[in-house]
Amino acid sequence: MKIEKVMVIGAGQMGSGIAQVCAMSGYDVILHDLKDVYVERGLGTINRNLSRQVEKGKLAEQDKEAALSRLKPSTQIENAGEVDLVIEAAVENMAIKTKLFKELDGIAPAHAILASNTSSLPITEIAAATNRPEKVIGMHFMNPVPVMKLVEIIRGLATADDVYSVIEDMAKSLNKVPVEVNDFPGFVSNRVLMPMINEAVYTLYEGVASKEAIDEVMKLGMNHPMGPLTLADFIGLDTCLYIMETLQEGFGDDKYRPCPLLRKYVKAGWLGKKSGRGFYNYNQ
Ligand code: CAA
Repeated sequence: MKIEKVMVIGAGQMGSGIAQVCAMSGYDVILHDLKDVYVERGLGTINRNLSRQVEKGKLAEQDKEAALSRLKPSTQIENAGEVDLVIEAAVENMAIKTKLFKELDGIAPAHAILASNTSSLPITEIAAATNRPEKVIGMHFMNPVPVMKLVEIIRGLATADDVYSVIEDMAKSLNKVPVEVNDFPGFVSNRVLMPMINEAVYTLYEGVASKEAIDEVMKLGMNHPMGPLTLADFIGLDTCLYIMETLQEGFGDDKYRPCPLLRKYVKAGWLGKKSGRGFYNYNQ
């Protein structure tokens, strides 16, 4: 099966990044969201990212224009009727995702693959909402999508081998490195990353060190590009909390309990960079 047309659902940070790399790799892309303003914002981000690359001399103006011409806006889910692959990057909420996949199952062509960019929700459960569980798979991109090489490819219980191969090849065509993972809470990326971030929040909570010191230890001592608290702000503290809760519930193990300080920040609306304040203040 050859993938030519892709619909990306969700024009936020992840969805617009996924749409950008797909369009840059020659796919026709429909960028879909609930409202025009969200889609316009996503397209604006893509335009800015590509323009920056042109300014730096890393991309030819005509290649930027060609990529932009392959991107079509959408607020009508029925547009999924003409694509070979849907990549869903909507909000991390199981009820919303299962409703969406059920709807897509009724609209997308029979051959189409339905992928989710979920960062921790079970692919098997999302797949069970459709009549094509063998064609449902996880494609977990990392933030910022245009920069990060990894795509974690998650096999649901029923995902067919040929579907896995098509998606693996597709990820390679995006100049990404696919890594095969089975469907367990948090997959590999967030099962390892989030407890580390949560532990960093505990060290702050318990007064072991200041936020700057914790970040410095991990940056200089472990060669991480960002300290864990800066990274948490970058990912979004609500997302970090949600993933910890998914791990705790999914494994039934309190070793994944979210730090009370993380909960407190989220309750305060301190969600990290996107809200202007998290562990650090971005309003100054
Ligand atoms: N969108 C597009 N491009 C971006 C970008 C963004 N948001 N942020 C940075 N870039 C690009 C820059 O334009 C620059 O490109 P060129 O090399 O072509 O000039 C390049 O990335 C490097 O950027 P900078 O020099 O400004 O900054 P840096 O060297 O500090 O790198 C970083 C920035 C890549 C974000 C780096 O800090 C990093 O790797 N951080 C860790 C990111 C990470 O861990 N991501 C995973 C998060 S977890 C996740 O996504 C999964 C989940 O489910 C929660």
